[in-house]
Amino acid sequence: MQTSRNKAQAGHHGAGDGMITLVVARDRNGAIGKDGGIPWHLPGDLKMFQRETTGGALIMGRHTWESLPAKPLNRRLNIVVTSRPDTAKLICETVGEAVRLAEAEGYFRIYGIGGAGIYRDMLPLADRLLVTEVETAVENADTFFPEFDEEEWQETTRATAAGDPGYAVRELIRKRGG
Ligand SMILES: NC(=O)c1ccc[n+]([C@@H]2O[C@H](COP(=O)([O-])OP(=O)(O)OC[C@H]3O[C@@H](n4cnc5c(N)ncnc54)[C@H](OP(=O)(O)O)[C@@H]3O)[C@@H](O)[C@H]2O)c1
Repeated sequence: MQTSRNKAQAGHHGAGDGMITLVVARDRNGAIGKDGGIPWHLPGDLKMFQRETTGGALIMGRHTWESLPAKPLNRRLNIVVTSRPDTAKLICETVGEAVRLAEAEGYFRIYGIGGAGIYRDMLPLADRLLVTEVETAVENADTFFPEFDEEEWQETTRATAAGDPGYAVRELIRKRGG
């Protein structure tokens, strides 16, 4: 098991021993959003998100927070990264600060749940990715998951699901040296 010291040496957050997971659903081109919303409706994937993240801490950007139909997401610590103090009960100005807050609150499972700026800044800190690959190509999408090197990650599970569109949920764990 990695210690926080090892993580820091490896260039990771090093603030504690929390497991950082990014959860994302993207299309074939990496699109995650359009016009402030998610451009597909996949109840099975939402159920997976709910089951996976319950009891954990969520870190999200202001637009994602604003797009939630019901907030906060219950039975989870909701942290919003924003420069606007009145946005939510628990806010931070940076992703690093949000991770430290989640750890200080005693959370071990910490989830980056979007959007693009959150994924970009949390990717170097992440231990694990839960990527739903949605079998579609959204026209005029405006928000994208950052590109990443698949070679740095090991796929541990891949579960395909029927849906409209169909999709596959992949779990990727960061390869560590040694
Ligand atoms: N498919 C998926 O899995 C998925 C998941 C989440 C969201 N989405 C979609 O993605 C879109 C929203 O994403 P978005 O990229 O437009 O917005 P976002 O990341 O949710 O929110 C952007 C705002 O959050 C703050 N912020 C985000 N990252 C930051 C960082 N690293 N450091 C400091 N502040 C940061 C800033 O707030 P201030 O301006 O207040 O400073 C920024 O203006 C929507 O369409 C949503 O439905 C899709």
